[in-house]
Amino acid sequence: MTPKSIKSTTADTNLFHPPKSIVRKANIKDYDKTYERSITDREGFWADEAKKLKWYKKWKTVLDDTNKPFYKWFTGGKINIVDNAIDRHLATHRRNKLAMIWEGEPGDVKTMSYHALNREVSKFANVLKSMGVRKGEIVTIYMPQIPELPIAMLACAKIGAMHSVVYGGFSTEALAGRIADANSRVLVTADGGWRRGKITDLKSIANEAMDRSPTIEVCITVKRTEHEVHMENDRDFWYHDLMSLPIASPKCETEVMDAEDPLFILFTSGTTGKPKGLVHTHGGYSVYTSTTHRYVFDIKDEDRWWCAADPGWITGHSYLVYGPLINGATIMLYEGAPNHPYPNRWWNMIEKYGITILYTSPTAIRGLMRFGDQWPQRHDISSLRLLGSVGEPINPEAWRWYHEVIGDGKCPIMDTWWQTETGGFMIAPLPITPLKPGSATKPFFGVEVGVVDENGKEVAAGEEGKLVIKAPWPGMARTIFGDPDRYVDTYWKEYEKQGWYKAGDSARIDEDGYVWVIGRIDDVIKVSGYRLGTAEVESALVSHPMVSEAAAIALPHEVKGNAIHTYVILKAGEKGDKKLEEELKKHVSDEMGPIAKPEAVHFLESLPKTRSGKIMRRVLKARAMGVDEGDLSTLED
Ligand code: PRX
Repeated sequence: MTPKSIKSTTADTNLFHPPKSIVRKANIKDYDKTYERSITDREGFWADEAKKLKWYKKWKTVLDDTNKPFYKWFTGGKINIVDNAIDRHLATHRRNKLAMIWEGEPGDVKTMSYHALNREVSKFANVLKSMGVRKGEIVTIYMPQIPELPIAMLACAKIGAMHSVVYGGFSTEALAGRIADANSRVLVTADGGWRRGKITDLKSIANEAMDRSPTIEVCITVKRTEHEVHMENDRDFWYHDLMSLPIASPKCETEVMDAEDPLFILFTSGTTGKPKGLVHTHGGYSVYTSTTHRYVFDIKDEDRWWCAADPGWITGHSYLVYGPLINGATIMLYEGAPNHPYPNRWWNMIEKYGITILYTSPTAIRGLMRFGDQWPQRHDISSLRLLGSVGEPINPEAWRWYHEVIGDGKCPIMDTWWQTETGGFMIAPLPITPLKPGSATKPFFGVEVGVVDENGKEVAAGEEGKLVIKAPWPGMARTIFGDPDRYVDTYWKEYEKQGWYKAGDSARIDEDGYVWVIGRIDDVIKVSGYRLGTAEVESALVSHPMVSEAAAIALPHEVKGNAIHTYVILKAGEKGDKKLEEELKKHVSDEMGPIAKPEAVHFLESLPKTRSGKIMRRVLKARAMGVDEGDLSTLED
């Protein structure tokens, strides 16, 4: 049967109008008027949104742009994100509302009301305090998707410490490097997590990383998988032991923070060198994540919201933890693989818990689509009213499957374009926006985007160019931790005169003003929606004793979107064969984590380079794809 919304749009098969039932109840009824106001009266618009939060003290200035590009928001204001995400709900009907539903991969379930969440967060905040954790200090968190992960994040924020969450799929080198950069004294981890019926041995990885990390004094470990792990005297403590001590009192004052005080750092891959720790703040980030979440996903008190991203990435920070909790939603967290033990796992949970909004990535959709319609069709998933997508462009085939099979043709798909750096949605539809599959549609309120050519000149409608953002927004990262110059160089240098932010993506804007993001134009690779730098993969390869030089590129992959292909030059006298190829793949996986494992390793005698010695990855890519190699005038040889 053809879903209704498709039938009604036969005049333009590419335009999907949201059903009237959704439009009628939408939190925002008019995009154009609100957008216009948000641009002509930017500060007024954001002040009105900020007023919806709880402030200990109101701000003096909405936007302070006296030291561009180091913009400040709501200066003079006093706030704590946890006061908004938890404390203020306790005096309302939400006290006994479910804040979190969690399901472990083996099938164990935990639920927590806002009251219970407050107790757990307060108790752990007191534990951290007893370990000497102070305002401004950075606690590193390396955990599977268990309730203690958001609890640890919130506990840090509550006492004014910053967190640095390292994705649980990363490995030793990646973790050690991030601990060192953050100068962390305290690490919170777990013995392991469940993934596809197997234990991921996080504690062993953490132990190896701590061997390389002289700054760590304390490691707190949650018992999850209960397998044998090594605990070091004086350094290692069990979470449950500490939480049962009198110091873990359920009463803890929430620290009063300046709006611009840092909330967390989150490392993400860049064009060159090491991953950079982007800094987000209590004030602007609270306003931005809650506003975007409330309007784009049309959040209502009765919603059950499932953001299926890992809390270890920005999507998890902004839309699994902070934005939804500020909006008083019930959040869903699931520990394991989407297809374990069978490919109906997600659909089963949607039915069981009555999930109303699902927010996930194109790669997850493609992965589940592969198993066929019969898996979702076994379940009554009619509780869904909205769907979301993030991480990479969604291909029309996956869009249609998501829309028709998962959304029964009645759930609009919110394709949200944004970045670790932006803190929240930048280009995204509202539930009232007519959709074009593959386009994130239009800029969010207060966001001005442009597409420009090599000279920074705006291109004509429909033409491809570089995506820029023309004005500041409250959720923007304030700097790169410990490296403000790099922040300026990476994002603001190229369009210094215009004062624009460089997104690093290519895009086009069509005649209707819809934005089509095409992909990265720098050396960042998106694999299964995860962001990796070619530089990191290359440095993992050259850390192998037989490798002298390496280059990594992305080539299209049916499920992952992109896959990593690598080219290596071996040290003199070494010979490349199948066995070494497998060894090098495993080496990268061991150093960085399974997501960085290359699809292929090719052995070469030389790499295409510019005369100044830079590897020309685009030449490798063009060759691999059998397309024109383009301008080779800068090629050395
Ligand atoms: O290339 C864009 C792609 O993901 C990049 C940002 O990656 P990260 O910082 O890891 O954040 C991902 C989650 C917000 C962007 O530069 N990207 C993200 N969302 C989309 C997207 N590309 C196309 N469409 C999207 N909806």
